[in-house]
Amino acid sequence: MSANTFTTTGDESRQTAGAAPEAAGGEALRPHAEDSFAAELRALAAADDRPRPERWQLSPWAVATYLLGGTLADGTVITPKYVGPRRIVEVAVTTLATDRALLLLGVPGTAKTWVSEHLAAAVSGDSTLLVQGTAGTPEEAIRYGWNYARLLAHGPSREALVPSPVMRAMAQGMTARVEELTRIPADVQDTLITVLSEKTLPIPELGQEVQAVRGFNLIATANDRDRGVNELSSALRRRFNTVVLPLPATPDEEVDIVSRRVGQIGRSLDLPAGPEGLDEIRRVVTVFRELRAGLTTDGRTKLKSPSGTLSTAEAISVVTNGLALATHFGDGVLRSGDVAAGILGAVVRDPAADRVVWQEYLETVVRERDGWKDFYRACREVSA
Ligand SMILES: Nc1ncnc2c1ncn2[C@@H]1O[C@H](COP(=O)(O)OP(=O)(O)OP(=O)(O)O)[C@@H](O)[C@H]1O
Ligand SMILES: [Mg+2]
Repeated sequence: MSANTFTTTGDESRQTAGAAPEAAGGEALRPHAEDSFAAELRALAAADDRPRPERWQLSPWAVATYLLGGTLADGTVITPKYVGPRRIVEVAVTTLATDRALLLLGVPGTAKTWVSEHLAAAVSGDSTLLVQGTAGTPEEAIRYGWNYARLLAHGPSREALVPSPVMRAMAQGMTARVEELTRIPADVQDTLITVLSEKTLPIPELGQEVQAVRGFNLIATANDRDRGVNELSSALRRRFNTVVLPLPATPDEEVDIVSRRVGQIGRSLDLPAGPEGLDEIRRVVTVFRELRAGLTTDGRTKLKSPSGTLSTAEAISVVTNGLALATHFGDGVLRSGDVAAGILGAVVRDPAADRVVWQEYLETVVRERDGWKDFYRACREVSA
C-alpha cells in the first residue's frame, strides 16, 4: 500500500487527453500550444542557462519570455503570445514555482484560457491535462473514475482506476489546468482543497493515495462576470494566488492583439491577411472600446453600453469572419461591409435594448465621423 507508486507515461496521457498522435502534426485544426510553438520552445530551452525548478522544461525567465516575446542571443525571435503588463506574467510564472496554485481571473475574453494553455505548455511541455469546469462537473473529473468492465472483472485495482487529468499531473509532476473553476459546484470544488494543501489524493477504495511529485501545480481560470469568485470557499481561495488579467489598456494595444491573432487564425484557415485590413481592425476596436467605456474616444459624447461584453476575443472573431467574407465573396480586401454584420451581431445581444443603443451610436457618432461614411452605409444596410 505504498503511496506514489502510480505512474503513467507521457504518451499515454497525451492519447487519453484527446488528440490522436497523428493529428498533432500539421493536420490538427487547432494544434496544442506546445505543438504550434514547438520550434520556439526548443530554441528557448537551448538558450536557457538559468536554473529550472524541478521537472520544468524551462526556467521561469524563459517561460516569461515565451509568453511575452523577445529575441534570443542567437537571433531566434519569440513571438509574443500575451500582450499586456510584463509584471502580470512574471507573477503568474513565479506562482507556479511555489506551493500555491494560480487563479487567472478576469472578464470574458481577456485571454485567461489562452495564458493558461501557454503557461502549461512552456512549464510542463503539455497543456492537455485539462478539466473543463461546468455546473455538471463531477468529482471524478478532478479525482478519478473507474473502468466498469475492469472493475467488475477484477474488482477495485489500479488497473480499473481511470485517473483524472489532475491525478496524472500530480503523479508526473506536471501542470494541471481547471477551466471555469467557479462554475463547478462548491462541493466538487472542495475536492481540490486536499490536492492543493496536502498535495495528495486519497483512493479509499484501494487504501492508497497518490502523492504529488515536485513540479506539480495547478492553473485555474474563472470569469468574474459569471457568478463570481465569491463562490470559491475561503479555504480554497487561500490555496490560490489570484492574478487578474485586465482588458487591453490602450487602443493601439488592442489593435495589436487583434491583428496578431487574426493573422495567426487566418493563416490556419488559408485566409490571406493583408495590411489593407488594418483600418477596419482599428475601426472594430474603436467601436468596441467606445461602447464598452460608454464614452467616445475624444471624451465628448456619453454613450449607453450594450449588454454584451464586447471583448477583445469578440473583436478577433468579427475581424476573422469579415476576412472570410472578403476572401470568399469579395476581392480579398477587408472592407466595412465585411465587418458590419459581425459588429451588429456582437453589439445587439438583447434584441430590444441593445438595438436602441446601437441605433443611437450609429446616428450620433458613426454618421458624423470623418472617413466613416462607408462604414455608416454598411451598418445601415445590415441594421435595416
Ligand atoms: N492581452 C491579450 N494578449 C493576447 N491575446 C489576447 C489578449 N486578450 C485577448 N486575447 C485573445 O483573445 C482570445 C480569447 O481569449 P480566451 O479564450 O483565453 O479568453 P478568456 O479570458 O478565457 O475568456 P472566457 O472568460 O470567455 O473564457 C484568444 O485568442 C487570445 O489570443
Ligand atoms: Mg476561457
